[in-house]
Amino acid sequence: MIKLNAYAKINLFLDIVSRRYDGFHDIVSYMQTVSLCDEVSLEKADAITVIGNPAVPQEKDLTYKAAKLFFEQTGIDGGVVITLQKRIPMQGGLAGGSADAAAVLRGLNELYETELDDNALRRMALTLGSDVPFCVSGGSMLAYGRGERLTDAPPMPDCGIVIVAGRHGCSTPAQFAALDSRYDDFYAYRPHSDRLDRLGDAAEQGDIRGVSAELFNIFEETDGYDAEVAHRIKQTSALGVLMSGSGSSIFGLYENENEAELAASKLRDDGYNAVVCKPIGI
Ligand code: C5P
Repeated sequence: MIKLNAYAKINLFLDIVSRRYDGFHDIVSYMQTVSLCDEVSLEKADAITVIGNPAVPQEKDLTYKAAKLFFEQTGIDGGVVITLQKRIPMQGGLAGGSADAAAVLRGLNELYETELDDNALRRMALTLGSDVPFCVSGGSMLAYGRGERLTDAPPMPDCGIVIVAGRHGCSTPAQFAALDSRYDDFYAYRPHSDRLDRLGDAAEQGDIRGVSAELFNIFEETDGYDAEVAHRIKQTSALGVLMSGSGSSIFGLYENENEAELAASKLRDDGYNAVVCKPIGI
C-alpha cells in the first residue's frame, strides 16, 4: 500500500490568450503548489474501486478514470483500491480533483514499477484534464496552451496563505463560456502581460509584497467571483487577494503563517470556511 499527498494549486496569474477551434482556450498562468492537500492511498487489487468520494458515482470520479487510463496505456492487467481523504474544497479552482488524479498516476507508476518519466505521465494526464499535467509535477510553473505547456517559474516567496472556499462551486466550462460572451477577441483586450513579468521579477527577488501587487485573474470578471468574500479578506492584514482558477475559492497572501492564522480565525468567526497553508516546491 502507498500513501500520497495530492496538493492543491493556486493561480497567482491567470489570463486567456485566445479561444481555440477545439473548444478549449489558450491560457497563460503562474501556477503554485500549496501545502493544502488530499490524501490518496493506493492498494493493488483485481479491479478499480474508489472509496471516499460519495459525491460522485465511482466511474465518474477522475481518480477512477486515471487508474483506468493507466492500465489501458501500460497494458497492465491490474486493479487498485483508491482511498481518498478529501480536504481540498471541490469545484473551488484549486485543482482538487486534478491533484487526486495526478497522484493516482504517480502512485500506480510506483506501485506497478512502470518507470514512466514525468513527461510520459504528463502526456497521459492531459487526457484527464487541463490542470492534471501541472499536478503531476507541481511546484512553481508558468502554464501555456490548455495549461499543459509548462516551464519552471521562480518559486513563490515564503508567506502565509488563507484560502476561503467559495460559497457556491463554479463550473469551469460555464465560466469560460461567460468570458466568451464578453470578449470577441481576448488578445486585443490584454493589458496584463507586463504584470506577469513584474510578478516573476518580484518572486525572483523573494518580494511577497511585489508578488501580491501583481496578482491577476480574468475569471474575477465572471459572476463566479464572490466580491463580498474578497472584500472581507481584504479587511484582514492581507497583502493581496485573488480568486483561484475559474473559482470560486479566494485566497489572501500574508507576510507569514502567523498573520495568516490570525486572519483565518477572524474569518472563521464570521462563518467563512478558511484554511491556512503555504507555498511549497516539490
Ligand atoms: O480540461 P478540463 O476538463 O479541465 O476542461 C473543462 C472545460 O473547461 C473544457 O471542456 C473547456 O470548456 C474549458 N476549458 C477551456 N480551456 C482550457 C481549459 C478548460 O476552454 N484551457
